Formats: sequence, structure tokens, C-alpha cells
Amino acid sequence: MTQTQQILVTGATGTVGRQVVAELLARGHRVRALTRDAAKAALPDGVEVVEGDLTEPDGLAPALEGVTGLHLITFGGAAFTPLETGPRILELAHAAGVGRVTVLHGGGPTPLEDAVRADDALDWTVLMPVEFMANALEWADGIRAAGEVREPFVSRLSAMVHEGDIGAVAAVALTEEGHAGQEYVITGPEVLTVDDKVRILAAAVGREIALVELTEEEAVAQWRAAYLPEDVIGFLLEAYGNTPEVGRTVSGTVEKVTGRPARTFAQWAAEHAGAFR
Ligand SMILES: NC(=O)c1ccc[n+]([C@@H]2O[C@H](COP(=O)([O-])OP(=O)(O)OC[C@H]3O[C@@H](n4cnc5c(N)ncnc54)[C@H](OP(=O)(O)O)[C@@H]3O)[C@@H](O)[C@H]2O)c1
Repeated sequence: MTQTQQILVTGATGTVGRQVVAELLARGHRVRALTRDAAKAALPDGVEVVEGDLTEPDGLAPALEGVTGLHLITFGGAAFTPLETGPRILELAHAAGVGRVTVLHGGGPTPLEDAVRADDALDWTVLMPVEFMANALEWADGIRAAGEVREPFVSRLSAMVHEGDIGAVAAVALTEEGHAGQEYVITGPEVLTVDDKVRILAAAVGREIALVELTEEEAVAQWRAAYLPEDVIGFLLEAYGNTPEVGRTVSGTVEKVTGRPARTFAQWAAEHAGAFR
């Protein structure tokens, strides 16, 4: 049993951050959660919610008081702009006595992650999840309205990960010995095609779901209609059309770090079936 610790979670209202919060609470730790708007945060009871903005680090000193571990995101703002404030955030973290930091990798190099990696005085761990299972929620409207999923590259392979398992790896790395200087590629327990995912989802939701394969041009038109920025569209085309090996290989990190097997997409689909009905 590890001792109760005080952890500051940034990005705490996000897909991953909410899971980091939940996993820390489940392990009996005290959680302080950073948000730009406490009124909208909707975090669980028992969480101390504090307001702050990672682009204005000088205001973060009170949030860091008494904290032993810090979970960081690498971006600020709706457009996922890479944060340039890493060095100042780390200066304040040192002043507060923070010993451990986890950083959620942003899909490529970022100044904040570089600053964390360069800090020899901290026990840092880089969390490198592959595709989140939660991305399937993007299909919810199409499934509810028309019983269909419209996607390009339907036979692409993905070792996608349950976001709860990203949270569990973060919670362990933030509160236990033995994870300093590690870069953890975090995946699910199996490699699935889009076709597999739709079949598993249909079984969980209890209805037929058609998979309509889009050409690359049709996919780009669909993403533009959803107002995705051009750089995100470029990223998706590359990630889906040419998935790197790391994104389609089971890593075993979840079980190694947490002692529990990684959760399957069938588990995720059962938990979220209501969103697709
Ligand atoms: N989707 C995937 O498949 C995938 C896979 C691997 C890696 N990733 C990476 O995961 C990251 C996205 O994580 P996510 O999906 O958990 O994020 P998300 O759900 O979009 O949440 C964004 C979070 O960032 C916080 N935030 C934004 N700007 C802020 C600022 N200036 N100051 C303080 N907080 C700020 C928001 O807090 P408030 O609004 O409450 O302030 C919110 O909690 C990206 O780096 C992405 O590259 C994604």
C-alpha cells in the first residue's frame, strides 16, 4: 500500500484527465484538479477543484502548494496549441517540492515535454498512448441517426487503448517508485480493424451497424464539413492511412505497470453503449 499523496492533475476535465483523477481517487490519494472554469468542471466529490491557466503559469503557484506529483498536458487552448510555458511551470513545481511528473505525449515533440525530459531533478514519466477507444464516440451521432459508421481506411489496424488504462498507468507512475525516466507506450490488449470495432459495438448496442467505406476524398470532405482544421485532417490521413507500427502493436504496459490486464474494446463498448442508442 502506498501512502496517501497530494496530486495536481492538469487537463483534469479532459478525456484522459478525468480518468487520471478517477484512478488516483480509487487508490485513496488526494486530488487537486486544474481547470480554467470551475463552474463547468463537473468533477467527482472529493476532488479539490482549482482555477488556473497553463498559458499563465505565474498564477499556478497556489495550485502547486503541498503537491508531491503533477500530471501535465502539453497544449493549451481549443486548437491544441503547444505550451511554451513548461520551464516556468517546472520552476514553480520545484519550488513547491513536487517530486514526480507525468506528461501526456501530444503525438509529436512539444516544448513542454522537452522541458520535462530535460529536468534531471524530477522523476518524470512520459505517457504515450495510442488511439483512444473514446474516439469511437465520434460515431455516436451517425449510429443513432442512421445506424451507420462512415470511415476511410476500414482495414487499418489499431491497438487502441481504454482511456481508463491511461489514467491507471498515470496514477501508478505519479505515486509509486520505479517509473522515473520511462516512456510508456500504452495500448489495449488486442489489435482491431475498424470493421472489428463496428462489429463489437453493434453487439454491445444491440443493433445492426453498417460500415460505409469512404474514399480519402470523401473523408476529407466529411472532416471539412465538421470544421476540422487542415493540420488535423493531414494528421488523420497520415495516422489512418499509414498507421505506424507502434500504433498497431500491443505493448503490455498496462499489465506491467498496474498489475491488471488492459481493458478490451468490448468492455469499453458495454460501458458506453447508452451513448449510441
Ligand atoms: N485522441 C487520441 O486518440 C489521442 C491519442 C494519443 C494522444 N492523444 C493526445 O491527447 C491529448 C488530448 O487529451 P484529451 O483528449 O484528454 O484532451 P481533451 O479531452 O480535449 O481535454 C482538454 C483538456 O485541456 C485543458 N486545457 C486546455 N487548455 C488549457 C489551458 N490553457 N490551461 C489549463 N487547462 C487547459 C481543458 O481544461 P478546461 O477546459 O477545464 O480548462 C481540458 O481538461 C492531445 O495532446 C493528443 O495529442 C490523443
